[in-house]
Amino acid sequence: MYPCTNPELVAAVSEAGGIGIVQPLSMVYVHGHDLREGLRLIRRLTSKPIGMNVLIERSSRTYEERMRRWLDVALEEGVRFFVTSLGKPRWVVDRVAAAGGNGAGAGGVVYHDVTKRKWAERALESGVHGLIAVNDRAGGHAGPKSAAALIEELGDLGRPIICAGGVGDERAFLAALALGYDGVQMGTRFIATDECRVHPDYKRRIVEAGEDDIVLTERVTGVPLAVIRTPYVARVGTKAGRLARWMLRGRRTKYLMRSIYGLRYVWKLKRAALGGGGSGARGSSRDYWQAGKSVAGIERVEPAGAIVRRCAEAARAAPERGS
Ligand SMILES: Cc1cc2nc3c(=O)[nH]c(=O)nc-3n(C[C@H](O)[C@H](O)[C@H](O)COP(=O)(O)O)c2cc1C
Repeated sequence: MYPCTNPELVAAVSEAGGIGIVQPLSMVYVHGHDLREGLRLIRRLTSKPIGMNVLIERSSRTYEERMRRWLDVALEEGVRFFVTSLGKPRWVVDRVAAAGGNGAGAGGVVYHDVTKRKWAERALESGVHGLIAVNDRAGGHAGPKSAAALIEELGDLGRPIICAGGVGDERAFLAALALGYDGVQMGTRFIATDECRVHPDYKRRIVEAGEDDIVLTERVTGVPLAVIRTPYVARVGTKAGRLARWMLRGRRTKYLMRSIYGLRYVWKLKRAALGGGGSGARGSSRDYWQAGKSVAGIERVEPAGAIVRRCAEAARAAPERGS
């Protein structure tokens, strides 16, 4: 999660038996670690497997080259699980396959974020091993479809399907498995944890919020982003400005607008995550706090490992799936 994922959080999730996912932009630009050093810090905290998110964004050559370098660093440091988002993941699949085993067999594993069948089929053509179905309750960039509709649409593709969105407690975790999902990707739930380094105000708002407090705004990245409705969000509305909308429609101007959004996204969300929501020196009441509708199941700030263990125990105690 940009900007919420820090090495200690990733390590805590993996140590408890989940797979913590490194978000390299968050590691480097928000939490101030060189990627290799950050990965080694995680290794000192846990020997369990971790993953890394590779956001495939082709509108900036500099960004793309940096992401390719980061992928190589991760592979050199032994990471073998990758979650790709946006674009075509073929180059990631090829590089990961060429990397060789790390003791657990040859190559590695790539799962791709999708919001509908068309993107799933394209990702499978690129050779991904599994799909993460991002639904309409997800934090970050939510999809348009429900968890039930997505498993219906993707369930026959013959690959593991992971549910992303709306899971904030073990009840929702079991409900996702009961729908037929092979696993769950949780985001928002892990922000309200002891190990997450975001400002306590942000964690408190996640605990206090109900699902009706979550809205989709186009004003941060140009496409719907799930955020908590603060007085500022309510005041400015959720639609992109007229100039931005016009630029996003133009064939040439859309690339410029996406770059502007990209820079603003990195800067604005970093300030929001680390600063409080009031008039503190670093925080601003004009900030955006990302969260999904899974806030409904989040009742307290707690250790990340406790959440993973509760979900695992609930799954073990549940009647056999399909029986
Ligand atoms: C604060 C925040 C930041 C996120 N950043 C990313 C990101 O950088 N890359 C990505 O692939 N998904 C990102 N996501 C989406 C999550 O990976 C995950 O799919 C989503 O959080 C699942 O929904 P949930 O928040 O209801 O658990 C982000 C989600 C949140 C809440």
